[in-house]
Amino acid sequence: MWYFFSPNIVYGEDALDFLEKIPGNKCFIVTDEGLVKLGYLDILTEKLTKFGKEFKVFSEVESDPHEETVLKAREHCIFYKPDIIIGFGGGSPMDTAKAVRALYEFQNMVVDDLHPFNDELFKLGQKTKMVAIPTTSGTGAETTWAVVINRFEDNYWRKLEQAHKAFAPDIAIVDPIFTVGMPPKLTAGTGFDAVAHSIEGLFSVWRNDFSDAMSYKALELIFEYLPKAYKNPNDMEARDKMHQAATMAGLAFGNSQANLGHSMGHALGAVFHTHHGIAVGLFLPYIMQYCINDPDENDKTVAILAKNAKLLNFTKWDTNDKEAANILVKKVKELQKLVDFPQSLNKLNIPKEDFDKNLDHLVSLCFQSSSSVMSPRSAGGEAFRKLYTYAYEGKDIDF
Ligand SMILES: [Fe+2]
Repeated sequence: MWYFFSPNIVYGEDALDFLEKIPGNKCFIVTDEGLVKLGYLDILTEKLTKFGKEFKVFSEVESDPHEETVLKAREHCIFYKPDIIIGFGGGSPMDTAKAVRALYEFQNMVVDDLHPFNDELFKLGQKTKMVAIPTTSGTGAETTWAVVINRFEDNYWRKLEQAHKAFAPDIAIVDPIFTVGMPPKLTAGTGFDAVAHSIEGLFSVWRNDFSDAMSYKALELIFEYLPKAYKNPNDMEARDKMHQAATMAGLAFGNSQANLGHSMGHALGAVFHTHHGIAVGLFLPYIMQYCINDPDENDKTVAILAKNAKLLNFTKWDTNDKEAANILVKKVKELQKLVDFPQSLNKLNIPKEDFDKNLDHLVSLCFQSSSSVMSPRSAGGEAFRKLYTYAYEGKDIDF
């Protein structure tokens, strides 16, 4: 038995109009202050008003949401008693909304109860419908059952990767209206989160035929439309396709899991507060090379990456697999260059001495990440240390 979890997905221009058809009347909107200031929240609330629905807004979600913020939002939610919860924004508001929904429906639970082995959570949905509306094209949080919450513990920030299959939203509304005009840097950062989801999902140990299909199609769209969206932020076709691609990539990794790039990226984000998409996109070529170089050739990573390089028309069908897999790495690096993406940690304003000082801690955080065990090639302390060091200097992985 295996599984493929997905929300109902409404996509394309005017997808927001589907709100009218969702049963329920009281909407608790979880979002961030930036979307309020930019006027995007007004687009959503005007629709809700038009469709005769009430709403209350919690807009205090920070980037990399803190546990305290989740608990504060829950208090507001309990007071308001909604029947629809809307996560509106990037990954942080959508993840916060998923956690708030669970903690609202199960008021006896705390954040540590939000884990995959808590069977009671399968009863989720008796009080609310969960709607996710992404405003960037990258996180895939509108589809996934993972929730990333930040906790300050022992003088360090740690990313709790809480997850339960019941957390997947009921409905994802993937309307490109919110991404038109997105600044190029954010377009590239979030876009590379979607690239990382697609590719890590392809060779994760939980990969499956359904997730493979989503990864391949997402990559085809991203390689074509990310540079277009980057160059022309108002290109509606590129925005629409990137929005769909990010959702497909979310379905891919949500059902197959990310691996080493996300464990290294989450650790980097926890220590240096690097944008999530920048972090995981930067590590992607390095961890691909590390898995391609696997001396045991575990789990067919080379064959998988080679096949996708060929499906994407990056090389001929008779190219040998090792070469074809490395061509996919090369294409990822070329895509990075097309959108002015940082390719080594020394380009991120992380001073070498800060990096060296925190290297042990970064490695220890990787061991706490569930994504680490999803890699077809395992990584011990020495491997993580070398991966970070090579990524700092921009060196190809030769081990
Ligand atoms: Fe991600």
